[in-house]
Amino acid sequence: LVTTTRAVVDLDLPGARISRHLYGHFAEHLGRCIYGGFWVGEDSPIPNIRGIRTDVVEALRALKIPNLRWPGGCFADEYHWRDGVGPREERPTMVNTHWGNVVEDNSFGTHEFLDLCELLGADPYISGNVGSGSVREMREWVDYLTGVGESPMVNLRRANGREEPWRVPFWGIGNESWGCGGNMRAEAYADLARQYATYCRDHGDNKLYRIATGANSDDYAWTDTLMRTIGGCGSGPLQGLSLHYYTIAGTWEDKGHATDFDLDEYYSTLTKAGKIDELLRRHSTLMDVHDPYGKVGLVLDEWGTWWNVAEGTNPGFLYQQNTIRDALVASLHFDTFHRHAARLTMANIAQTVNVLQAMILTDPDTNALVRTPTYHVFEMNTGHHDADSLAVHLLDAPSRDGLGLISASASTKDDTALISLSNLDAEEPQTVILNLRGREVSGHTARILSAKTPQAHNTPEAPQAVAPEAFTDLEAHPAGLKLVLPPHSYVTVSLSLS
Ligand code: AHR
Repeated sequence: LVTTTRAVVDLDLPGARISRHLYGHFAEHLGRCIYGGFWVGEDSPIPNIRGIRTDVVEALRALKIPNLRWPGGCFADEYHWRDGVGPREERPTMVNTHWGNVVEDNSFGTHEFLDLCELLGADPYISGNVGSGSVREMREWVDYLTGVGESPMVNLRRANGREEPWRVPFWGIGNESWGCGGNMRAEAYADLARQYATYCRDHGDNKLYRIATGANSDDYAWTDTLMRTIGGCGSGPLQGLSLHYYTIAGTWEDKGHATDFDLDEYYSTLTKAGKIDELLRRHSTLMDVHDPYGKVGLVLDEWGTWWNVAEGTNPGFLYQQNTIRDALVASLHFDTFHRHAARLTMANIAQTVNVLQAMILTDPDTNALVRTPTYHVFEMNTGHHDADSLAVHLLDAPSRDGLGLISASASTKDDTALISLSNLDAEEPQTVILNLRGREVSGHTARILSAKTPQAHNTPEAPQAVAPEAFTDLEAHPAGLKLVLPPHSYVTVSLSLS
């Protein structure tokens, strides 16, 4: 059924600032994310900058990546940073027990990661090892990275070729400490988080934003305990609390196929993705109770789709394709993030290259680089970075089994506004009247991301099968603008305001 939705936007009523860090990323030592994805080494025939793939850096720079989380994930709690500094040929190896039991030769370590961040223009977000590390090991890593003056760690950094400290704003105190990061109880971890965070010092001008391991999905008891223990009102040694939520349409045993899915699976995926709204609302409410002034930020540092691995690939490498359905999961998440921008300070999609809901896939045989549909949603949304959110009131929007079929959000910056609209209806176009109030609109442009089917995706043979185009199915309307959104499409409308 084709319906008409009214979307009312008050252009003169800015709400919370949408931190650019809601568009953050995550790169783990997992499968082909670091090795083959980012890092090929200086001697590789693949064009590289000091060992880092040039094409990957160039593609990602268009996304204005605000921060990059590393080295894990589960890997973080087995990672010992001293193994990854100094001459590469002398670095010890280890076995990556979480991800395929492959040998990790530590050729991509601290200096290489910070170099990557500088090339991307991204802030580093480092996850320290609580599960199998020590307070001393974590403290020394912080000292090594950010220390100034004379100290054993600063001198070691200098001996390894880096004179100036790096700026490292974000620091994770472990990862999934309720699971792969140590199987701890909330009470036990909360005390450890306070202890570890205490010794992660601020050096010189570097101010750490220390992030405690947060809940898995709807484990509200974890958030309650953590917030009670880490100190509400920002008085404790921690500034952020994380949350992880993956969109899994099937079960953990059979998560579903990345590209071969029917309409029921399409809708159940988007319904699962839509659960992020309830999760952010309920975790935020608990945080409001313990921290009414909003000093501790909520950090969704792992999110995205998780499908069965692609046929013929290593099950421990989590390699999957990425379709229009994934793009709509992303757009739905971003609309939700914008609505929760007051408490949500950061979010990191899992993961940037070749793992889970990636932006970029690289072909191991031809080395070809493919931008995924999800990549394009990130690029189309760069105008929301550090803009002020605008509420979008939807009237008469269609729904299917409780899933709203129109998702929308908006923001404003200087004399512009950006409106994001998703038509989640797999089969029907939907008409939307944008009711634009409060400021004069002097011009508009629009772009669309869609394809013939929700299963459409990009490959080395057809890298542009899904790519943004100019959107022309819109016209002036007495209330503002009238748009007809094709089925399974994502549209952004940029407004000039006077
Ligand atoms: O992103 C893949 C894994 O998912 C991460 O290593 C872990 O934190 C989560 O369970």
